[in-house]
Amino acid sequence: MPTLPRVRKAVIPAAGLGTRFLPATKAVPKELLPIVDIPTIQYIVQEVMDAGIDTVVFITGRGKEAIEDHFDQYLDLETKLEKEGKDDLVACLRKVRSMVQIVSVRQGTPRGLGHAVLCARQVIGDEPFAVLLGDDLVDAKVPCTKQMLDVYQEYGKSVVGLWEVSDEDVPKFGICGGKMMTDRIMEISAMVEKPKLAEAPSHSAIVGRYILTPAIFDILEKQAPGKGGEIQITDAMATLMRRDGFLGLQFEGQRYDAGDKFGFLQANVAYALKRPDIRPKLLAYMREVLAQTKKEG
Ligand code: UTP
Repeated sequence: MPTLPRVRKAVIPAAGLGTRFLPATKAVPKELLPIVDIPTIQYIVQEVMDAGIDTVVFITGRGKEAIEDHFDQYLDLETKLEKEGKDDLVACLRKVRSMVQIVSVRQGTPRGLGHAVLCARQVIGDEPFAVLLGDDLVDAKVPCTKQMLDVYQEYGKSVVGLWEVSDEDVPKFGICGGKMMTDRIMEISAMVEKPKLAEAPSHSAIVGRYILTPAIFDILEKQAPGKGGEIQITDAMATLMRRDGFLGLQFEGQRYDAGDKFGFLQANVAYALKRPDIRPKLLAYMREVLAQTKKEG
């Protein structure tokens, strides 16, 4: 096989309205809601960096300017903190602004994830690229995007991240069917957006990680609106699958949907328990709450 071009850019769509998290997301982008003290999207940018990708393309929209500000320089604050000798905070701010090269593209109207990805076409050009959803966290030893890049490099095909979901959740996701090539890699033969449980090919849901070849752009240009009247990335990927083949990776790690209230709470508890400065206090508090709940019956 000829050498594959390196994946150098990652698209992070963050222009959605975040209706599942209203009223918190009326004025604050859900991608900036903190998991302990770090915004969700910062963890995602960190994952991009850890996977060796050097450019991030944010897809943003109205009311999402704070995302760009978060990764920008805030010199006045840095100087003030420096004067006060708060070096750890200065280092923390500098780290965020020097993470990766950032390009921002506006999606005028949130017309769906497929449309959001299409908005990145000019910046991506004719190269394979990664997509990480701005509210989907994966806590993994090997960064999820790195796991996916390894599969892309080995097989030369587009790859989606797969996650097993319950009966109840099947109709909320794009669902894949196919045959397992290894214990974790699926050769996908069916992709259906938000199927009824009875019509779903499996319980393997497409979650927020993708490695796509640039052929997806021509397909997205012609893609008609699908479920919910939105331009669905799953519909375009199904066309790409029929043409060039498509793989799914059941990645290693724990996934959290931080754009969902319960997923957000789970992520906060899990990440707080990993912090030595918070863990003992949080555990003591959780024991207290459990004991109190038991007493109350
Ligand atoms: P979601 O479906 O989770 O985002 O899309 P949403 O539409 O904001 O969510 P709810 O259902 O109303 O709560 C996954 C990711 O894709 C982005 C979102 O910002 C989110 O990070 N997205 C979605 C876009 O950038 N543009 C769109 O048109 C839709």
